[in-house]
Amino acid sequence: MTTFHALYGHQPEGEWAAPGRVNLIGEHTDYNLGFVLPIALAQTVRVQARRRTDGRLRLYSAQGDGSVTELTTEDLAAGTVTGWARYPAAVVMALVEAGHRVGGADLLFDSDVPTGAGLSSSAALECAVAVAYNDLFGLGLGEQELALLAQRAENRFVGVPCGVMDQMASMCCRAGAALYLDTRDLSARQVPLDLAGAGLRLLVIDTRVKHDLADGAYAQLRAGCERAAELLGLPALREVPLTGLEEALTRLPAELRPLVRHVVTEDDRVRQAVALLDAGDPAALGPILTAGHASLRDDYRVSCAETDLAVAAAVAAGAFGARMTGGGFGGSVIALVTADTADAVAGSVTEAFREAGHAEPVIHHAEPASGARKLS
Ligand code: GLA
Repeated sequence: MTTFHALYGHQPEGEWAAPGRVNLIGEHTDYNLGFVLPIALAQTVRVQARRRTDGRLRLYSAQGDGSVTELTTEDLAAGTVTGWARYPAAVVMALVEAGHRVGGADLLFDSDVPTGAGLSSSAALECAVAVAYNDLFGLGLGEQELALLAQRAENRFVGVPCGVMDQMASMCCRAGAALYLDTRDLSARQVPLDLAGAGLRLLVIDTRVKHDLADGAYAQLRAGCERAAELLGLPALREVPLTGLEEALTRLPAELRPLVRHVVTEDDRVRQAVALLDAGDPAALGPILTAGHASLRDDYRVSCAETDLAVAAAVAAGAFGARMTGGGFGGSVIALVTADTADAVAGSVTEAFREAGHAEPVIHHAEPASGARKLS
């Protein structure tokens, strides 16, 4: 791999990292101002960076096509940036728009967060740039402010109307804990989660079905939820209590009811999951995960044949529970298993994929890792 010096002719001022995430439970709840429970992955986007005085942004990715993308302030303003460079460019634009005095920079990225796998590689990229800029330009912003800024960057300058979960996870997660986040006021609690200590493994099964959230399905689902909240006279679906769900459904058109049922029951599953983790019983999360998947499959309809098969095969092979994680339409499935059975469950899922004629899934496992940070 090339070095920063070889590319840009000087040394970086520092190196920063931001992780991808898996969400344990709480899917499609964030833009409904509900609850989520993600963990950060050990896989990160790393960025080496040095400030420039001419306002230009030069970007290079070790996973890219070998070229340096050079952007001027005019390119940023015109919004004509394409490809992966949109994400770092969007963060710089969001900083400028928010009135921060930032300039250009030379940036070199390297990442082991798989892209298109539902593991938030884009949020990791955004958050890596956000922490690097925060330090380099002495902005003094806190983790939460940086996460909101990265979300705004994606909403406004990439065009994906995502919620705040991925950016909050990448910024605020801690090793050994899941982040219990209330997305209405961003109050958060680190819930201790020691999978290895409990003799457990969390398999992350990348189905290799890629789905681009920018293609409109996500935006439509979000719009459906907002419409339902409006019809119910509420600011967001988070305000529908579980006990009031049935009555609320009678006041909605048939096509919106499954969306609301998913969101309201999913918020409840997050609360149940946190109670079990607080009680020191992570294995008991299993049935909640599988119920969450059924809700995503049958009510929210963001599942696909491969994610359904991975869940079914993992559970049939003895997993405590399994579910699709992230936005959906492909991406990754998590499965909670004992350390002893992890290899056998992974083998069964791989075999089921082979029999069904699907591409071989990529299976690894996750322990709650650290959020964004300066490396050197
Ligand atoms: C994507 C979005 C998140 C969240 C999830 C679904 O990852 O970026 O904000 O909505 O989908 O839970």
